[in-house]
Amino acid sequence: MSGNSADGRVPGFVPGADNRKKLHVITWGCQMNVYDSLRMADVLAPLGFTSSPLPDGADMVILNTCHIRDKASEKVFSELGRLRLLKQSKEAAGGRMVLAVAGCVAQAEGAEILLRAPYVDIVLGPQTYHRLPEMVARASRAAKGGPVIETDFPTEQKFDFLPEASAPQGVTAFLTIQEGCDKFCSFCVVPYTRGVEASRPVASIVAEARKLVGQGALEITLLGQNVNAWHGEAPSGSTWGLARLVRELAGISNLLRLRYTTSHPRDMDDALIAAHGDVPALMPFLHLPVQSGSDRMLAAMNRKHTAEDYLRLVDRLRDARPELALSSDFIVGHPGETETDFEATMDLVRKVNFAQAFSFKYSQRPGTPAAGAPHQVGEPDKDRRLQALQALLRDQQGAFNAACVGRTMSILVTGPGRQPGQIGGRTPFLQPVHLPGSLDRIGTEISVRIDAARQNSLVGSLASTSNLIQERACA
Ligand code: 5AD
Ligand code: SF4
Repeated sequence: MSGNSADGRVPGFVPGADNRKKLHVITWGCQMNVYDSLRMADVLAPLGFTSSPLPDGADMVILNTCHIRDKASEKVFSELGRLRLLKQSKEAAGGRMVLAVAGCVAQAEGAEILLRAPYVDIVLGPQTYHRLPEMVARASRAAKGGPVIETDFPTEQKFDFLPEASAPQGVTAFLTIQEGCDKFCSFCVVPYTRGVEASRPVASIVAEARKLVGQGALEITLLGQNVNAWHGEAPSGSTWGLARLVRELAGISNLLRLRYTTSHPRDMDDALIAAHGDVPALMPFLHLPVQSGSDRMLAAMNRKHTAEDYLRLVDRLRDARPELALSSDFIVGHPGETETDFEATMDLVRKVNFAQAFSFKYSQRPGTPAAGAPHQVGEPDKDRRLQALQALLRDQQGAFNAACVGRTMSILVTGPGRQPGQIGGRTPFLQPVHLPGSLDRIGTEISVRIDAARQNSLVGSLASTSNLIQERACA
């Protein structure tokens, strides 16, 4: 069993000593990294590590990195330079700080990190977190010897070896059910950094979901790089798809809301579309990346679907759940993108009418097919296209929010609001809402009248309980 030494003791644990050690985790990137950071803390808890909000004086700092876009490595090395100073001052005081780089930059750069930042003790890829206790023990033994690198894709499944999630996540919780991706979109590093698609079995997902709900979670977001490709082994021995899993989880009492992200249009099967129509706990908001509205670009991106396929899919989803609101990801300036291609993206956006979306300038990722493709698009064109696209998406989001004003919506209260005396929560469509209210409403679902809309959020007031909750779309 990973995590324990051969004699059964947890490495680094000294019986009778003060074993409380401070762990600070810095998380960059997606929700899966947020989840991974929590799980790394879980793995290290038996060694006496407790989470610390600051890196100063910590016994261990983990930098959980993201490689998806931009100057990921440069950002990592500049952060490491800052952490090095803290490590040095801890050592000057006679202590020791174990410095670990985790996540997708660790996976992509591997030993390169140690060449440029030799003071780093551990470099570990996303599939090796369950081995952290052994790495910490090795790094401690090797204090003067050398650092530890673990960037293999181990044959064992990480999730079979991770301890049960222990830290409560709160009213809304993430649960990773699937990792990795076999789609190989031309621009994307994920298949290289996270590896091939792997799905967790039903029993461990259901057990974790029940535990999260027991700890107070009312909403669970199922996570995966390609979450709707999930297909897990059920206790009966049969294989379930995501729709069946969603139905199972929706049966957990006190679990009010379910979401899943991120999906690929190709993996939206009939059963999942139907689940949107008849599983009330499945929220009427779906993040469904399309990347481009041009068939030429979609082919160049290796997305394996056309713009028309996507539009048809949206129609079918809206037939199943008319109030469904959509979000998406877009890339402008993929190699070869012309003005005409970009206009096709704008057309698709106008046709779908998104409630919100993320849009990015194409960024060359070393080792991906698009990085070496001819006809790279210049920065000025990328900038201009991104601005035009974002203006359109902003308008659509603003209109979606504005259309909510005057409606009564069901809000899951997740914490205090922005101002004193306020509470904050989320609509079924994931819009943040602030309203006057007492903190004892946190962790409940309430009816809220929407009084005003901002670009990214709504302002409301407690509706009288006799009001019906309306979950109609706001557009
Ligand atoms: N350049 C720009 N955006 C990218 N994404 C992924 N790789 C790149 C890249 N090389 C975007 C995609 C994806 C989201 C998570 O990040 O839109 O859906
Ligand atoms: Fe990357 Fe998503 Fe394409 Fe997979 S489906 S390669 S994660 S963009």
